[in-house]
Amino acid sequence: MFYSFFAMAPTKHYVFLCFTALCIILLFFRPVLAHDRPVFACDVETNPELKNLSFCDTSLDVQARVSDLVSRLTLHEKIGWLVHGAKGVSRLGIPYYEFWSEALHGISIIGPGSHFTSLVPGATSFPQVILTAATFNETLFETIGKVVSTEARAMYNVRLAGLTFWAPNVNIFRDPRWGRGHETPGEDPVLTSKYATAFVRGLQQRDDGDKDKLKVAACCKQYTAYDVENWKGIQRFTFNALVTQQDFDDTFQPPFKSCVVDGNAASVMCSYNQVNGKPTCGDPNLLTGVIRGQWKLNGYIVSDCDSLKEMFYTQKYTKTPEETAALAVNSGLDLNCGAFLTRNTQKAVDRGLLNESTIDRAVSNNFATMMRLGFFDGNPSNQLYGNLGPNDVCTSENQNLAREAAREGIVLLKNSAGSLPLSSTSIKLLAVIGPNANATHTMLGNYVGIPCNYTSPLQGLMVSVATVYEPGCVNTSCATAQVDEAKTVAAAADTVVLVMGSDLSIEREGFDRVNITLPGQQQLLVSEVASVSKGPVILVIMSGGGMDVQFAKDDPKITSILWVGFPGEAGGAAIADVIFGAYNPSGRLPMTWYPQSYADTVDMADMNMRPNPTTGFPGRTYRFYKGPTVFSFGDGLSYTTFNYELLATPKHISLALEEGHACRSSECKSIDVVEEICKDLGLDIHLRVKNEGEMRGSHTVFLFSSPPQLHNAPQKQLLGFQKLHLEAGGEGLAQFDVDVCKHLSVVDENGKRKVVLGDHLLHVGSLKHSLTVDFPLQIRILI
Ligand SMILES: *[C@@H]1O[C@H](CO)[C@@H](O)[C@H](O)[C@H]1NC(C)=O
Ligand SMILES: *[C@@H]1O[C@H](CO)[C@@H](O)[C@H](O)[C@H]1NC(C)=O
Ligand SMILES: *[C@@H]1O[C@H](CO)[C@@H](O)[C@H](O)[C@H]1NC(C)=O
Ligand SMILES: *[C@@H]1O[C@H](CO)[C@@H](O)[C@H](O)[C@H]1NC(C)=O
Ligand SMILES: *[C@@H]1O[C@H](CO)[C@@H](O)[C@H](O)[C@H]1NC(C)=O
Ligand SMILES: *[C@@H]1O[C@H](CO)[C@@H](O)[C@H](O)[C@H]1NC(C)=O
Ligand SMILES: *[C@@H]1O[C@H](CO)[C@@H](O)[C@H](O)[C@H]1NC(C)=O
Repeated sequence: MFYSFFAMAPTKHYVFLCFTALCIILLFFRPVLAHDRPVFACDVETNPELKNLSFCDTSLDVQARVSDLVSRLTLHEKIGWLVHGAKGVSRLGIPYYEFWSEALHGISIIGPGSHFTSLVPGATSFPQVILTAATFNETLFETIGKVVSTEARAMYNVRLAGLTFWAPNVNIFRDPRWGRGHETPGEDPVLTSKYATAFVRGLQQRDDGDKDKLKVAACCKQYTAYDVENWKGIQRFTFNALVTQQDFDDTFQPPFKSCVVDGNAASVMCSYNQVNGKPTCGDPNLLTGVIRGQWKLNGYIVSDCDSLKEMFYTQKYTKTPEETAALAVNSGLDLNCGAFLTRNTQKAVDRGLLNESTIDRAVSNNFATMMRLGFFDGNPSNQLYGNLGPNDVCTSENQNLAREAAREGIVLLKNSAGSLPLSSTSIKLLAVIGPNANATHTMLGNYVGIPCNYTSPLQGLMVSVATVYEPGCVNTSCATAQVDEAKTVAAAADTVVLVMGSDLSIEREGFDRVNITLPGQQQLLVSEVASVSKGPVILVIMSGGGMDVQFAKDDPKITSILWVGFPGEAGGAAIADVIFGAYNPSGRLPMTWYPQSYADTVDMADMNMRPNPTTGFPGRTYRFYKGPTVFSFGDGLSYTTFNYELLATPKHISLALEEGHACRSSECKSIDVVEEICKDLGLDIHLRVKNEGEMRGSHTVFLFSSPPQLHNAPQKQLLGFQKLHLEAGGEGLAQFDVDVCKHLSVVDENGKRKVVLGDHLLHVGSLKHSLTVDFPLQIRILI
């Protein structure tokens, strides 16, 4: 497919090659003009004749307006609205609209719908999602979404952004090598579901509470079981993810379901890969059956960029391109990112493969979304958000939130006594060493915009103390470390901060890692520097995925380890906040850190979550993997100590099974989750949390359960989490409403939810609490 390079290119395909400064610069200078007016339809001020068209009549409901609009269009005009660059219909006052804008963690330049110019030179760049997830703060997830949508509306008003954004990415970070893992909230379905719901609400919900309308439209992507880029030649465009029904229903699908059902997302994007032999964008069950049928999506289903092209040309899934076009639209696809449907839809209709009524359904979903966005309501300057403009982007409040998010997410993984926090008054000279020590662009991760400003780690640290800087490697690949130079600098300082890790040359779209150790000679550099250091040595790992840093954990000369993800535009300020104790670290790992042996022995393309004793496959994530880890899901230290006490948790909850229930007469080990049984079957767990140290701080309380080991149940699963802020010596309450059917159930081998009878162990921190569910259905709590 050949678009003009700058205007409509399938950016995703080459952007992963674009980690060099040059390419980023090329992307920034797309020739775009800013206008003082946004793009919108039904401009009745300029064209009073449009007043008579029902689809422009804001007093009618969306469905009536959409029907009216579709009834006025020719087939050719409808086909124009099946692709991301939707063709204008000038006779009806409908302009060209670009559906493709991105906003994973701030307004992005990836996607032709958004641009920066001198009018709006940058937008707030929040941490990459994996670090925001590490905050375990649902309020923050939503607040970030809200700030992003405010900046989006402000940019839309000056024709610099669209209204449809293709975020969040809610795939499970199943394997540490996945190049896009950092775009996601991590490996846990519950955390990912809560992130999806909160972020989507933040993006979409309007301040006037009008639920029928959208502030901007979010998109849950990439549906589904998508988490291989290019691993040892296995390519995402052709990868067939073989997923068991059980893994599908209890790991891969729940975040998408929450994103649509709880978050009310206005869109879902189907992925490149196949699932069990069928391309996701051509699977009627996955699209029409699940997304539309079960989840009742109110919005549009879009293909990943060029998914259809890949389905035909690379996967060779159908004999002709028009068959692919027909398959996708008949399966439930509404919009094609790409131009495949521009070229092949008419042919599909001519050959009888696709009916115009099916195309009507697709464009109706696209138009309905645009109506909910106010696109057909005339001049937006007269409407809610119409007064936003360039001054509402990169406000100091928004930039402070980027800094707050980064410091809340940073995870303290090791801290020997007397190491962190550093006292700025007692340090004469701080050595700041490493290829990421003065990182700027690297801090953004991918799906970047132009940030408002950068504070690199070096710049952040130099505010408080005298520093000396030595990169130690020319770049993160670190083929040959400058060990001697770094040692000289380290030996002359009284404290050392090493900022190591990766960047998009190591972890990126279209590319998976092979090794999960620090790249090249980084480990050598760290160990050598530590060996000559006189005082604390702080190892800061800037990366998307976990790194095998067992050597640093074991090295007594390395006194602290921090993981900072890709911390966004204010990353360096946030790192300094944590290192000097202006902020007490509260981040917790959203994914398991495996040893390199995991990468050496486990087939990345094996989609199974559960271990297989026959083949020696060890399983994945804290829910199923029992082998050694470098760090575990939920790890994260604080500068203070928190303690828990279990309060007032009921001892018994019982509910009899209805007459005639099969389990009343036969031996039952598990009971199907059905409404009659689940009604009011819950318990409250109350905990008193106390900050017993001398520093105020935030703390996340995790509630896990270990269900009885039937149906290949997870060894442990997160039921919920709550983040509390406590003053030194202060106390707070954490409360969990545990719904037995929702939280204590497991998915069986056939994808059915069941409550297993027997002992359920609840864990909160080091507290363990045993809970027995038995028959007749009764819950006993054994402390
Ligand atoms: C619009 O409708 C009004 C009232 O029905 C009618 O008088 C007028 O001629 C119409 N205008 C156009 C341009 O069709
Ligand atoms: C959660 O994030 C918000 C910012 O959105 C912050 O104000 C609040 O203190 C955080 N909560 C905790 C417990 O740290
Ligand atoms: C098109 O519509 C006709 C009549 O409703 C129906 O019989 C046929 O199966 C449809 N074809 C496709 C490809 O959906
Ligand atoms: C750190 O990076 C900034 C921004 O790229 C640059 O201006 C500055 O010169 C760098 N500092 C050093 C000491 O190299
Ligand atoms: C941008 O960040 C730098 C480094 O932290 C800081 O010195 C400067 O004041 C910031 N500029 C603006 C305009 O905020
Ligand atoms: C890193 O630096 C080496 C040596 O200059 C160079 O060959 C390599 O291409 C660089 N890697 C990247 C990703 O820029
Ligand atoms: C992975 O690590 C091994 C052993 O350290 C090394 O030989 C190999 O070159 C590394 N591979 C890559 C792709 O970095």
